[in-house]
Amino acid sequence: QELQMNLEQIEKGGYDHFMLKEIYEQPSVIKDTYRGRLNANKGIVQLAGVEDNIEKFLNANRILIVACGTSWHAGLVAEYIFEEFSRIPVEVEYASEFRYRNPIINKNDVVIAISQSGETADTMAAIKLAKENGAFVFGVCNVVGSSISRESHAGAYTHAGPEIGVASTKAFTTQITVLTMIALRLGKAKGTLSNTDFHTYLQELEVIPEKVAEALETNERAKEIAAAFKDAPNCLYLGRGYNFPVALEGALKLKEISYIHAEGYPAAEMKHGPIALIDEQMPVIVIAPKQGHYDKIVSNIQEIKSRSGKIIAVVTKGDTQVRELADYVIEIPETSDALSPLITTIPLQLLSYHIAVMRGCNVDQPRNLAKSVTVE
Ligand code: AGP
Repeated sequence: QELQMNLEQIEKGGYDHFMLKEIYEQPSVIKDTYRGRLNANKGIVQLAGVEDNIEKFLNANRILIVACGTSWHAGLVAEYIFEEFSRIPVEVEYASEFRYRNPIINKNDVVIAISQSGETADTMAAIKLAKENGAFVFGVCNVVGSSISRESHAGAYTHAGPEIGVASTKAFTTQITVLTMIALRLGKAKGTLSNTDFHTYLQELEVIPEKVAEALETNERAKEIAAAFKDAPNCLYLGRGYNFPVALEGALKLKEISYIHAEGYPAAEMKHGPIALIDEQMPVIVIAPKQGHYDKIVSNIQEIKSRSGKIIAVVTKGDTQVRELADYVIEIPETSDALSPLITTIPLQLLSYHIAVMRGCNVDQPRNLAKSVTVE
């Protein structure tokens, strides 16, 4: 028993939980994921699986993304990035819905299947359906040799290393890293991304690990805020644009490890009903970085404030406007809008982790959950 305990402590690298260790591994595993594939100085971004099939990507009329859970959120971020960089239409589907709704699948569709475990039954079934209809399937997996990586025609691995915590963290940011590199490569090839922007994004992506490390310094702040909200019965996460999927992901993290009901929503959608939920009992986490719809999200925050909502805002370092309105702010380093999800998600991971710990929840193995859903 004693030895077992010590072994586990060693595996956790001194962290209290695998989830916290994996949150802190993100700077290094993002670097591992782009190593050998990205060289900003030389203006190169290339992934073997993409290069070998570049014509399929460039001739695609549409990219379908099939995934579940956090991987589906990474797919939503990819939709915004792919469409902005490469102007290829993207549709993101829950694999469990896609596989049963007799979807339209064309021969020149490119289907990107995202799965950390590479064993998710719904995603596997979606891949098989896509292949039966002649589509090209590209897998983005974290487990080498997993079923989905073998079933796909080609693919690219994230190099996140084993993710033990059931709640996905480093898999999410390394999936976005891979998908961003693909979108950059396609945008450059199609000429839909200017040379200048291409090089700027390459350089920014290359220093993202340092910015993630800086965002991890919000840990103590996240812990303070967690103490104030650990008993909230409900929680709302709001974001716009690239950070709308991050709001969904933040809510999922809180739900699955602390068992607090949480919902992610596009910030502008609040006035179409959900704002009726707002009162002083409802903490609202707003992702409000300087880049991207800032003025609009400030007015969304004002709407919530006027209904006495409690506001926790994730803001860019040095922000002054939101600071005046929010009850709590967490400051993160500035990034471009398109790369901001890699940073804005960090404080949300830490916040949900601390709330779950304070509630005495089993952070690494939450109730009712499995690390990989290999059954329907
Ligand atoms: C996310 O924190 C959950 N562990 C879960 O939603 C997970 O993302 C989903 O089951 C998909 O798993 P996969 O990436 O291994 O396919």
